Amino acid sequence: MALDIVIMAAGKGTRMKSRWPKVLHRLAGRTLLQHVLDTAAKLGEARTIVITGHGAADVEASIEGRGALPVRQQPQLGTGHAVQQVVPHLAGGDGDTALILNGDVPLIEADTARALAEACGGRQLALLTITLDDPTGYGRILRTADGTGRVLGIVEHKDATPEQRAVNEVYTGMMAAPTALLKRWVMALTNHNAQKEYYLTDIVAMAVAEGVPVVATQARDETEVLGVNSPLQLADLERRLQRRQAETLMDAGVRLADPARFDLRGTLECGQDVEIDVGCVFEGRVTLGDGARVGPHCVIRDAAIGAGAVIHPFTHIEGARVGDGALIGPYARLRPGAELGAEVHIGNFVEVKNSVLGKGAKANHLAYLGDATVGERVNYGAGSITANYDGANKHRTVIGNDVHIGSNCVLVAPVTIADGSTVGGGSTISKDTPAGQLTVARARQVTIAGWQRPVKAKK
Ligand code: UD1
Ligand code: MG
Repeated sequence: MALDIVIMAAGKGTRMKSRWPKVLHRLAGRTLLQHVLDTAAKLGEARTIVITGHGAADVEASIEGRGALPVRQQPQLGTGHAVQQVVPHLAGGDGDTALILNGDVPLIEADTARALAEACGGRQLALLTITLDDPTGYGRILRTADGTGRVLGIVEHKDATPEQRAVNEVYTGMMAAPTALLKRWVMALTNHNAQKEYYLTDIVAMAVAEGVPVVATQARDETEVLGVNSPLQLADLERRLQRRQAETLMDAGVRLADPARFDLRGTLECGQDVEIDVGCVFEGRVTLGDGARVGPHCVIRDAAIGAGAVIHPFTHIEGARVGDGALIGPYARLRPGAELGAEVHIGNFVEVKNSVLGKGAKANHLAYLGDATVGERVNYGAGSITANYDGANKHRTVIGNDVHIGSNCVLVAPVTIADGSTVGGGSTISKDTPAGQLTVARARQVTIAGWQRPVKAKK
């Protein structure tokens, strides 16, 4: 029995006041639509169709290669009209189910969506509903008053009488229907209503008229059925999702200084006794080893931080590996390809890119290491840089074990600083240095005897 998942994403999202289609706005780093697609992917073997309209080209580009079939709805004449567009693409065998989801309701849980599809089972019309204190704007669920409370239909807010508006149970915009019946019902819709739209919700009364059972499944919590219509609602959902993610981490033992000041836009895997201070942002795939500590206001993207490492405040890390027991920051910047061994120290205003640092290497202040291989126990002085770029090509700097680079040195790549070398402060090194010796490449200091400082002429 086939399951088709239809995601409605053609709407404009006027209240976002954005040049972007609403479903392309991001929540925790993923577009609203991607959240729904990821949830759909958890429902097993199913075909997914996305109805596009406003900003269709951008929406379609955003889902390219993700296995969903885009179908355009042009113009947008309502939710029923939207589903009409996909009718030729839907299955329709006996017992097949079509699940309707919304591209702007991103936090629907896979369990809830699955339960909805199962409640349909290819035989019944299953509606996802919720009871709200303030149901303004939503379609109301109408039930019989005979005590059985059977569902009779849905009336849109704009078409509802005052008594109907008093109903608190609303349609969330998600339903599952026997596919063959859905196809027939949506093609029979009319737009004789307050909004002159083809309402998908009118199929409920059709089902009732034909004696097809209609069941209402209540959503577990409000968050999973909340839609995004405005920047304020987007931010509200973001906080709810962040809170949920923070609680999951804290349940696993991660110590967040404040779950309300934590942002994860991707995945974060933590060992035991990990501490994360306020205001940190984690993006992409990040892992933090046992006992790792992250200070306030760090941004960490696609990185692996070793056990016991300490990331001091205001550090920015992207595409890097940090070894066990390393100390990074404050104000450090690790760029893609930075591979730091155990117990490496990277201090304030130090930038490391595409460089491998051996165990115990230190660059504590104001330095740049790019395209470098740095040995163990190296001390890299304040203000020193690798001049790795000649304007056209990048070159490598190789620094051996136990090297001491003084302050304010320029290592002009390609160049090799052999094991145990010492480079005097202020040197510009463009030739390889011999092992174990002091190399100095700077003008000698002279003192000019009898030199007079100029004086201003008296007026
Ligand atoms: C719809 C429901 C209402 C429900 C509410 C829940 C109908 C008629 N009403 O109302 O009962 O309480 O959702 O949020 O279905 N869309 C298209 N093409 C269109 C129109 C809409 O793809 O022509 C998409 C939108 O992008 C959106 C979804 O369908 O994802 C819902 O559309 P929207 O206009 O928000 O419907 P509501 O009036 O809120
Ligand atoms: Mg809506």
